[in-house]
Amino acid sequence: MTIGSRHHRSDQPTELPAGIGSPYLVIQNLSAAYNHIQILHNVSLQVWRQQVVAIVGPNGAGKTTILKAVGGLLRPVRGAILVDGEDIAGLPVWEVVRRGIVYVPEGTNVFPEMSVLENLEIGGYLHRQRIPALLDFVYHIFPELQKKHKALAGTLSGGQQRMVVLARGLMAGAKMLLLDDPFLGLSPKYVKIFCDVFRTLRRQGMTLLISGQHVRRILNVADLAFLIEGGRITLSGTGPELLHNHHLQRTLFGIEATCEMGDPLQMEK
Ligand SMILES: Nc1ncnc2c1ncn2[C@@H]1O[C@H](COP(=O)(O)OP(=O)(O)OP(=O)(O)O)[C@@H](O)[C@H]1O
Ligand SMILES: [Mg+2]
Repeated sequence: MTIGSRHHRSDQPTELPAGIGSPYLVIQNLSAAYNHIQILHNVSLQVWRQQVVAIVGPNGAGKTTILKAVGGLLRPVRGAILVDGEDIAGLPVWEVVRRGIVYVPEGTNVFPEMSVLENLEIGGYLHRQRIPALLDFVYHIFPELQKKHKALAGTLSGGQQRMVVLARGLMAGAKMLLLDDPFLGLSPKYVKIFCDVFRTLRRQGMTLLISGQHVRRILNVADLAFLIEGGRITLSGTGPELLHNHHLQRTLFGIEATCEMGDPLQMEK
């Protein structure tokens, strides 16, 4: 089912482009805070298996906070995070990872003095017996890492280190990746590689929840997308619907969609 983009009140459940069967991840009225300052306000969204779902929004809107709450890095104040119907809100990270939900942070946080292979093996620490099969999978997705498996991770290019960070998440046995700003700092060559990788991962059965500031790139790969502003979801729809939504364009591209300055979507974001 596909419907047009729609505005939300954050206490409304989302009725949106659905996948087949029941949703894999259901976030219900999630509220989260840092130091008693509330950041997320009744965030509700649903993700079906094998979907690429995007969360976009201005700086500081709460995108990372949602991913961290789902990934077990932040205990929510209120609300439920249901994975296959089981509430994982507040579980420790390793319990969340054991259920196949893996947060992949932004940046190139590798162990620089260890080889690529050693970095990947660390990702598989929860199920050592599966490491050979997971390595096969990771090298199939990132042949570049297989070629470089003996190299010290610190000697790789920024794009290759991003590959190691993502591959470490896959080595954790992820069924669903929570990708925080995956295009940050990447050259056009690596942006294309990562877009292709995300599509391949989805084809292979993976579910992706992607957040970040590179709105065009993220919405272009998204089946379903949410705009978050001030810790509230204000808009949802398919990736292309949101990309063409005037409110989103005004909010994130900073110009009136109707002004005579050329196509705002051509602006790189
Ligand atoms: N560890 C923290 N302690 C206190 N406040 C925090 C912390 N992390 C984030 N915040 C605040 O929470 C709000 C939401 O931050 P968050 O990182 O989720 O935003 P974001 O949408 O991911 O932004 P960006 O686009 O810059 O990545 C911001 O106001 C931020 O300053
Ligand atoms: Mg962020």
